[in-house]
Amino acid sequence: MIKIQVLRVPATLPETYWSYFLSHVSAERREQASRFVHQADAYRSVLGEMLTRVTLSQLTGLRSDELSFTRNAYGKPALSNNPDVPFNVSHSGEWVALISGGTDELGIDIEKVAPIDLQIAERFFSSSECQFLAAMSVETQQDTFYRLWTLKESYIKAVGMGLSMPLNSFAILPNNLKHGELDWSCKQDGQIVRHRFYSQPLDEQHMLAACAVQGELPAQPEIVTLESLCAELV
Ligand code: COA
Ligand code: MG
Repeated sequence: MIKIQVLRVPATLPETYWSYFLSHVSAERREQASRFVHQADAYRSVLGEMLTRVTLSQLTGLRSDELSFTRNAYGKPALSNNPDVPFNVSHSGEWVALISGGTDELGIDIEKVAPIDLQIAERFFSSSECQFLAAMSVETQQDTFYRLWTLKESYIKAVGMGLSMPLNSFAILPNNLKHGELDWSCKQDGQIVRHRFYSQPLDEQHMLAACAVQGELPAQPEIVTLESLCAELV
């Protein structure tokens, strides 16, 4: 079963929590966290790994400290001991998000929503996506822009090739309404790819999208708290 989990990152973490989390992530992560200029970046990075460790520990039956990670040539992380366990993480603004489970590659993207310059779409989106966006009313353009942005990012993250796959080489557009929600699909080189998509605002300031090669995506993310994360680690 595929699940999407989200964890809210507080503005300030009590020192006891922070040192506890730092002691449970990899040495590389600790080192990276110490180099961030903004504490919020360090929180997002460390909490992303914590959420990943706790969930993958439950999925694999291994202890959190038995898990180690490798990255493919494009930076996509995988479990060293169980490379076939799919997962992907994203962090932005006040949230970290994790998708895990099933049997095939997964991708997730969360973005903090900010005022946009629609010319960015012309630089990154395919022509059919630009047309779709331009046809939206001014009030819905920001929402649509972030849906397309996060959907595209979730797809390249599922494929795992990062930005070496040109963003205008594929188009993600809605087909129709499914259970009252837009149902999205992706066309690459004129062919519909089999990936499935999830797209929902997480709150007023953050857009969330996820992508799975196959398997049913959940209707809603599961909210994980810092307290439950700590409890699972014990
Ligand atoms: N494939 C899948 N996941 C990857 C990855 C790859 N090639 N490289 C890194 N990741 C994972 C890592 O877990 C990383 O977190 P970590 O370094 O803390 O472990 C996480 O994805 C970062 O994801 P996110 O928080 O969503 O960051 P991002 O949106 O800044 O970058 C990239 C995502 C690195 C995969 C890449 O797609 C990128 O650089 N994007 C730039 C943004 C952009 O131009 N988007 C245009 C969308 S239209
Ligand atoms: Mg992102």
